[in-house]
Amino acid sequence: MLSQITVLSALISLSSVILAAPQPRALAEVVTTCTTPNTVALTFDDGPWIYAYEISDVLKAAGANGTFFYNGNNYACIYDDEEIKRVKHVFANGHQVASHTWSHDDLTTLTFDQLHDEMWRVEQALERIVGVAPAFMRPPFGNYNNLVREVAAARGQEVVIWDFDSGDSVGATVQKSKQEYDAAIKPHPKTILTLNHETIETTARQVLPYAISQLQAAGYRLVTLAECLGKQPYQWTTAPGVKDASWKC
Ligand SMILES: *[C@@H]1O[C@H](CO)[C@@H](O)[C@H](O)[C@H]1NC(C)=O
Ligand SMILES: [Zn+2]
Repeated sequence: MLSQITVLSALISLSSVILAAPQPRALAEVVTTCTTPNTVALTFDDGPWIYAYEISDVLKAAGANGTFFYNGNNYACIYDDEEIKRVKHVFANGHQVASHTWSHDDLTTLTFDQLHDEMWRVEQALERIVGVAPAFMRPPFGNYNNLVREVAAARGQEVVIWDFDSGDSVGATVQKSKQEYDAAIKPHPKTILTLNHETIETTARQVLPYAISQLQAAGYRLVTLAECLGKQPYQWTTAPGVKDASWKC
């Protein structure tokens, strides 16, 4: 009798230990390279902003598709009429849109609730404006930790970094950015996942046209991030909304 009770209570305490153990939370995958051979993903952060049309059109004219990581409220408010038009134009030209979070904070300084807020607001904006739920997010400054990965995973997104930086956001000259592209292309890696910025005039007008011609001359296909990974760009799509007073920053 005693031993039965002992065994029973041992089982009870064992099961309560198992039940009480914290469940490991899923962490989002962190993407740093493309996987589809012979592809390059040209990505542009920090928009929407005034060079959207030029970048989008230069890509399209070359038969290339790019990826735009959007903020909600960085250089401009994504709900301004001009910015809505830019996002719609980029999307309609076949480029991928993704999240760069709402206000371009360093995500590693934020709490769980703040992270959800930074992510859902821009997701809501993209759903309203072009009717998509992005499957990819890029953390501002490339800064992330496990909490960021946990929240991204809960929101159905992968975290995207890069394996090539044109240097445009840290003041690289046009010549320097071109040299960086040349140096990246020379050893002919299987794939390249680039970082560029939609907000920089010389990126739109000088570096991008050069990069496209050099990459295509080297035989690369210039595709969206999703295509270079062989994945879907969006978790779901729906009809875009119609702007009303609730569309504000
Ligand atoms: C770009 O996307 C369009 C569809 O929007 C597709 O027809 C075209 O093949 C893509 N280009 C590349 C280089 O993948
Ligand atoms: Zn950024």
